[in-house]
Amino acid sequence: PTMEKWTGRSSLERRLQEYLGISAVKIVAGDCDRDPVTKNLLGLKTAEAFVSTIENGQIIAVTGGSTIASIPNYIEKANDLQELLFIAARGGVGEDIGLQANVIAASFAEACGGKYRTFYYPESLSEETHKAFQNEPSVRKMIQLYEQVDCVIHGIGEAQTMANLRESSTEEKEMLQKTEAKGEAFGYYFDRTGKAVHRIRTVGIQIDQLERVPLIYAVAGGISKAAAILAYMSTAPKQTVLITDEAAAQEMLKQI
Ligand code: F6P
Repeated sequence: PTMEKWTGRSSLERRLQEYLGISAVKIVAGDCDRDPVTKNLLGLKTAEAFVSTIENGQIIAVTGGSTIASIPNYIEKANDLQELLFIAARGGVGEDIGLQANVIAASFAEACGGKYRTFYYPESLSEETHKAFQNEPSVRKMIQLYEQVDCVIHGIGEAQTMANLRESSTEEKEMLQKTEAKGEAFGYYFDRTGKAVHRIRTVGIQIDQLERVPLIYAVAGGISKAAAILAYMSTAPKQTVLITDEAAAQEMLKQI
């Protein structure tokens, strides 16, 4: 038995896991909103879980964001990780370069000694051009690759925070307010019942494809993300493992 057994975190993990109906919840100490070290703990915890469950030759889709970006720092090169293939869960380029999914996929690959494939897709396309782009061979190839993903590692954000960070239009922000969007993950915005109320126009893994992915790590912490995590988790695939911090976990239990 580890120390965690006696700190109360493990019973918190069990309660949340049962309530959310997902495969596991792992909780690290602290609050990402108040202490940046907590994000590193999330990275470490996820890296450990990931390395112990992944099998060589598998395909992993990762999202962007600062939380996911912290994970590769805690992965060490190993012979049995060299055939892993990392891809971006979504082609968007609308974010700070270091926090883009493509860049993070590359740093995972570098950490493991594995491979990666980049995929850049402009987010500002008109509906028409977006439709036309879907027939491009490189886009079709990516969409097919999403069918073969063995593992997804993704962040979760607070809906309005993400809309602001992405400098979304006033219309889009108003729409998110009207539909009461709470959480955001891989380009989808979710209301408190877990319904996807909006999606960024991009190419990326679809919700129905996610259902078929055998292993999913959702990584997000900080008290300010509690409602967002709960919203997303209402309809998250059952095979999801949530890795969060104590502050978000306590707040989630309060809000339930
Ligand atoms: O933009 C990529 C993304 O994973 C979003 O889907 C998510 O809302 C956000 O990053 C989380 O970012 P952070 O971990 O920096 O809070």
